[in-house]
Amino acid sequence: MVAQSNASADKDRKKVGLAPKLDSGFYGQDIISVSQFTRENLEYIFDVAEEMRAIVKRVGATDLLKGTVLACLFYEPSTRTSSSFIAAMSRLGGTVIPITQGVQFSSVSKGESLPDTIRTLESYADIIVIRHPEMGSAQIAADYARKPIINGGDGVGEHPTQALLDLFTIKEEVGRIDGLHIGMVGDLRYGRTVHSLARLLCLYDVQFSFVSPEILRLPLDVMNKIREHGLPVAETYDVAEIIPDVDVLYITRVQKERFADLAQYEEVKGLYVITPELMKRAKEKMIVMHPLPRVGEISYAVDSDPRAAYFRQMENGMYIRMALLAAVLGKA
Ligand code: NCD
Repeated sequence: MVAQSNASADKDRKKVGLAPKLDSGFYGQDIISVSQFTRENLEYIFDVAEEMRAIVKRVGATDLLKGTVLACLFYEPSTRTSSSFIAAMSRLGGTVIPITQGVQFSSVSKGESLPDTIRTLESYADIIVIRHPEMGSAQIAADYARKPIINGGDGVGEHPTQALLDLFTIKEEVGRIDGLHIGMVGDLRYGRTVHSLARLLCLYDVQFSFVSPEILRLPLDVMNKIREHGLPVAETYDVAEIIPDVDVLYITRVQKERFADLAQYEEVKGLYVITPELMKRAKEKMIVMHPLPRVGEISYAVDSDPRAAYFRQMENGMYIRMALLAAVLGKA
């Protein structure tokens, strides 16, 4: 979708391949990167998400988006992102074209290009969510599309809707964002959820501790963003070192599919596991988050700890995506 707001600032962003800021709201806009959001945008979406939760709990669904169609185009595996978007659209009374069970059943397998696939889907749907293995692919889709595009994860780039639900979860669980000490653990290099959340948190007054092996350290561009904002940041290899101090512990899976050399993956997988013993050293009021899927990073025995917020985090994804769909389609 072509940008229409705040012409000159948006032109500068466009030159460096960034989607426009959402200063004039969400209606008709692409959601490609967390760099588009202001604190006001976030507060608005969080308020709408709370309303969506109230509707779902009370009556299950509404017909706010009756007659509208969402296309879900997933070139990479997904459980939560795809199904929560589908559930969100269904609960808002709209319908979905789900290309989520492997694009091998679509003409992509016949060699159709991304632009042509997007042009096709937008002639049937009002909005498209795309997940693709290449960084920058969601922006490319947006450049070709007349309808709004939502980035559902572009390779090792960003995952903006996950960052929204992550931040919403922090706010709901802890009650505030400013003043918090955030620990991020695991695959900080390839984890797009980490990239988006760390960037989004730069809008707030937070302190970061990053825990990873050397080869999975946070990318320099994200680190520079944090430094630009003058936020305190520390890096370490040892999760036990930070656990007594953090208010939020955000742990991620090592992204096996991003490794060119699987021997390297074998070296770093399973380095960090959150166990009940480790949790004994954490604050009484803190939360453990994970974008999921987990492949051993949190032992199942932690699930019953009230500080384990990852399943509530996952549920929040549906309310946030309901809010986002309604806002982008002008019905919030
Ligand atoms: C994440 C992703 O796809 O980036 N999953 C998700 O959307 N909740 C994290 C991951 O795959 O590890």
